[in-house]
Amino acid sequence: MGKKPTLILGIESSCDETAAAILKDGKILANKVAGQAVHTAYGGVVPELASRAHQSHIVPVVSEALKEAGIEPGELDAIAYTRGPGLMGSLLVGSSFAKSLSLALGIPLIPVNHMHGHIASHFIENDLAFPFLCLTVSGGHTQIVRVDSFTEMQVLGETTDDAAGEAFDKAAKILGLPYPGGPEVDKLAESGNENAFSFSHPRVPGLDYSFSGLKTSFLYFVRKLSAHEVQERRHDICASYRKAIIDVLMEKLIRATEETGIKNVGIAGGVAANKGLRRRMEAERMARGWKVSIPAFQYCTDNAAMIAMAGYYLYREGKTGSQEEAAKARYEL
Ligand code: KG4
Ligand code: ZN
Repeated sequence: MGKKPTLILGIESSCDETAAAILKDGKILANKVAGQAVHTAYGGVVPELASRAHQSHIVPVVSEALKEAGIEPGELDAIAYTRGPGLMGSLLVGSSFAKSLSLALGIPLIPVNHMHGHIASHFIENDLAFPFLCLTVSGGHTQIVRVDSFTEMQVLGETTDDAAGEAFDKAAKILGLPYPGGPEVDKLAESGNENAFSFSHPRVPGLDYSFSGLKTSFLYFVRKLSAHEVQERRHDICASYRKAIIDVLMEKLIRATEETGIKNVGIAGGVAANKGLRRRMEAERMARGWKVSIPAFQYCTDNAAMIAMAGYYLYREGKTGSQEEAAKARYEL
């Protein structure tokens, strides 16, 4: 008789996506995400509305994941959930649900750091050897992480102010594009000239980042143009701004590979869905002889498969949690 497979339910609710996934021995059986259109009218995520939407989505999303995976709740071995970082009200919905279900089923809980989850997106269908460097770029974080195993990692550098995703989203807002702006800027940039305009690059020591200056210079740049000029040149403006962000991200990532001697490199997080950044990673791979891992689009933006995957490896190492652990809005990796 073979060993019984390990079935993990993953739950993600850190921001404005309610997500559930089921893994069987580290392979995805189901991966469900419910977005929250309610924020579009406000041009950004409204925390109170996000919590309420999670509250109404969580039960149907988990039920759908179980149904798609074709398993009964009683077959689950453990529940992995996002403990933080994120919006407190949103985290409380996912963590309370996970805790109740774990009590009801009598199975362990696995608290997962959301940033660890993003890194675990590389374990879904890529096989980058350890150690590797991960540039995690999301709406709230920008980090260069040295990853030594499925569960051991260390932050080498991070943003001192805004995240790369925020830099995209704020520029989109200045241009009057709908929220979330990152994908909109990326779309316009695809048919623009990235050398049309230049934006000054920040100077930050070591492997840290800063994006607030870039965002401000974008604001002043756009203010100097007439509404007509902005409309006419929006493709070139987006392409040039996207290039500036990518240049900043890559400069430190390249430095990190040189300082550590590690040439296995991945990108993760929502901004890793950016077409320009994905192409640049491919170009650097060719130029520098890197081994590169770029997760599929659906595993870059927030999802529960990555949380379940991080949880699966923690579970294998016996790193489970308890009912006492509280959700954490700020949670260091
Ligand atoms: O990882 P994620 O889904 O949520 C957080 O953990 O924050 O990242 C969301 C961020 C947003 O800032 C969004 O605009 C950005 O990722 N994003 C993009 C693209 N797709 C999502 N930014 C640039 N280009 C994209 N294609
Ligand atoms: Zn995220």
